[in-house]
Amino acid sequence: MTSAPASQSYVFDPVWEKETERLRTNEAIWDPGTLERLAALGVGPGWNCLEIGAGSGSVASWLADRVGPDGRVLATDLQTDRLGALARLPQVDVVRHDLREEELPEAAFDLVHSRMVLQHLPDRAAAVARMVRALRPGGVLFLEDTDSSTLFRSFLSEDFLQDVRAAGYGLMRESGHDPRGGHVDLQLVLAAGLEATAEGRAVMVRGGSDQARHYMLWLEFMRPRIVGAGLLDDARIDAALADMADPAHHWLSQVLISTVGRRAGGAEPGR
Ligand SMILES: C[S@@+](CC[C@H](N)C(=O)[O-])C[C@H]1O[C@@H](n2cnc3c(N)ncnc32)[C@H](O)[C@@H]1O
Repeated sequence: MTSAPASQSYVFDPVWEKETERLRTNEAIWDPGTLERLAALGVGPGWNCLEIGAGSGSVASWLADRVGPDGRVLATDLQTDRLGALARLPQVDVVRHDLREEELPEAAFDLVHSRMVLQHLPDRAAAVARMVRALRPGGVLFLEDTDSSTLFRSFLSEDFLQDVRAAGYGLMRESGHDPRGGHVDLQLVLAAGLEATAEGRAVMVRGGSDQARHYMLWLEFMRPRIVGAGLLDDARIDAALADMADPAHHWLSQVLISTVGRRAGGAEPGR
């Protein structure tokens, strides 16, 4: 794993001054379900885990705690500055790695997990093949990516924030983000020859919460792009941000699709 040029395809800016907060509020939405599923997979003492695109590190940190001193966690990302505290744990390695073009250790891991990374990449089949090669026989591949069609669905009205969703996700799509990424994950894992299952979950977000803040930061980041493209004006963005800040409002998140595949052969993970 060597240094590589910064991602051209990743839609978000890793050095935007609010990017750490955007990642943390994303964790506030999705961590409970992710950690529940990792626990159900049996992740425990002695496991060797790979967390790809670790972001600000909450899942890798949970894994480190779970595998204990006899296990290992490798946390990778294009931008590893946020993973400094994690890197100080004895059972953790943090490495800058570009999943698009750099190889991973082969047949090494009991678990490879990646959330909301794959759906940003141009050649996802190659990335999945790389992840499968990184699994030892019997190891588990756990991918999480979204279907964004439910985002902002609300009791309030049929069209609540739907213009904002269409504008923002339309531009993200032009930058390489796949709004149906979770569906693609399942197909790619099956095509790679793994036995796989998948299910989806959505979160009901309350306006003004930490979870709502994530969508406000998303819109703040997208604002100059949306306005610059002439899709919506500043007054509409201000009104949408006010709606998102209002605790009287509730809306549905994207559906996060969890795909779990297991590489054939081998003993139970962690043994
Ligand atoms: C939407 S964030 C998700 C972060 C974290 N996985 C989570 O769910 O909390 C996507 C992460 O993937 C990283 N990323 C984007 N492209 C990548 C690539 N080609 N290789 C490795 N990481 C990448 C970004 O730097 C960012 O930390």
